[in-house]
Amino acid sequence: MQVTSGMIGHGFYNDNSAPQLSAISYVLPWLDAAVDGLDLGAETSTVGLVDFGCSEGKNSVALSKRLIAAVRKTSDLPIQTIHSDLPTNDFSELFLRLASNSEAGFDDDRVFSAAVGGSMFDQLLPPNSVHFATTFNAIGFLSDRPVDQLAGYILPNGPSKQRGVGQVTKAEKKIFADQAYTDLQEFARARAAELVTGGKLLIQVFGAGDEFRTCDGLYDVLNDAVLDAVEQGMINQDDYDQYYQPVYFRTLQELRAPFFDPESDVSRLFTLEQSECYEVPVPFVQEYEKTRDIDAYAAAYTNFFRAFTEAVLRLNFATHPSLDRFVEFVFDRSEQLVREFPQRYEFHYVAVAVLLSRNANC
Ligand SMILES: C[S@@+](CC[C@H](N)C(=O)[O-])C[C@H]1O[C@@H](n2cnc3c(N)ncnc32)[C@H](O)[C@@H]1O
Repeated sequence: MQVTSGMIGHGFYNDNSAPQLSAISYVLPWLDAAVDGLDLGAETSTVGLVDFGCSEGKNSVALSKRLIAAVRKTSDLPIQTIHSDLPTNDFSELFLRLASNSEAGFDDDRVFSAAVGGSMFDQLLPPNSVHFATTFNAIGFLSDRPVDQLAGYILPNGPSKQRGVGQVTKAEKKIFADQAYTDLQEFARARAAELVTGGKLLIQVFGAGDEFRTCDGLYDVLNDAVLDAVEQGMINQDDYDQYYQPVYFRTLQELRAPFFDPESDVSRLFTLEQSECYEVPVPFVQEYEKTRDIDAYAAAYTNFFRAFTEAVLRLNFATHPSLDRFVEFVFDRSEQLVREFPQRYEFHYVAVAVLLSRNANC
């Protein structure tokens, strides 16, 4: 089974990804400093900036603007921005944004843009063609489904402490942690093959901190809604047992680990320059705190996670005879549950990030 086909397209992800932009914005100052440290020597003819897991492009274009501005402080070389995602991603909004007459695009006639479809776990670009590679809120989507079923809960990280409904065993969790580790190594190797020596790699992703995890609340409500579908007879218990979202929420230690593992070639390919686990404010939570408008909160919260979970739900239940009705039920029920029990599904956005520099080949 395909792991995911991407986010909901037709502008839905763009419209419901302000929390991700909040998490991106936190590390943007890292980019400024890192661009300063780039060596754009006399042999450089084009500066290559690539964002992996760009989705529909609103956030990808926003962060590329920041990178372009940082490069422009020291160089007027042509810049190529590349925005990459799965071949099944909806790239149409991205192309509209990048069109030369688009107000949302780059206001610089020495910037040339392209999109590349492919898996970020493969090499997608020529050797020595990239100066700065980024990925935001994406590498937690695993490259593979390492087990056929996860009967106790719909996510490898398991339920929140607060909700505690369902369980994932230690042995199951380890299988996914290992998959996440292997994925990170594959990603780093692929980028090492594309980056110039001294090139920068910023890996940022939703994660797990000491107190909160970004999966808490949202997967609890999705899990509860899917269990309600079992109770309603829309799916049976076996269907629930085989359904899970192949996404892993790493701790900062897990994100850093391959870059310090003496057994891994990856630790020789890169030097770690900066790393952090951080929490950012979530716009729909802030809005709710201001207005106490529970209907708006429940709708914004549900649309936010629907944008990145619906495709996986559909793939898992692809043979369901009334798939659309089932999917509508799950997200309507999720929204209703958030509306009725907002404290039960409290949400925090925790992210982890590392900034790396490509070492010279030994
Ligand atoms: C939550 S979105 C993040 C989009 C954007 N970077 C942001 O922060 O708003 C995750 C993106 O990762 C993409 N993705 C998942 N697995 C991928 C893979 N193996 N290769 C490339 N992109 C992948 C999805 O298609 C999706 O567009």
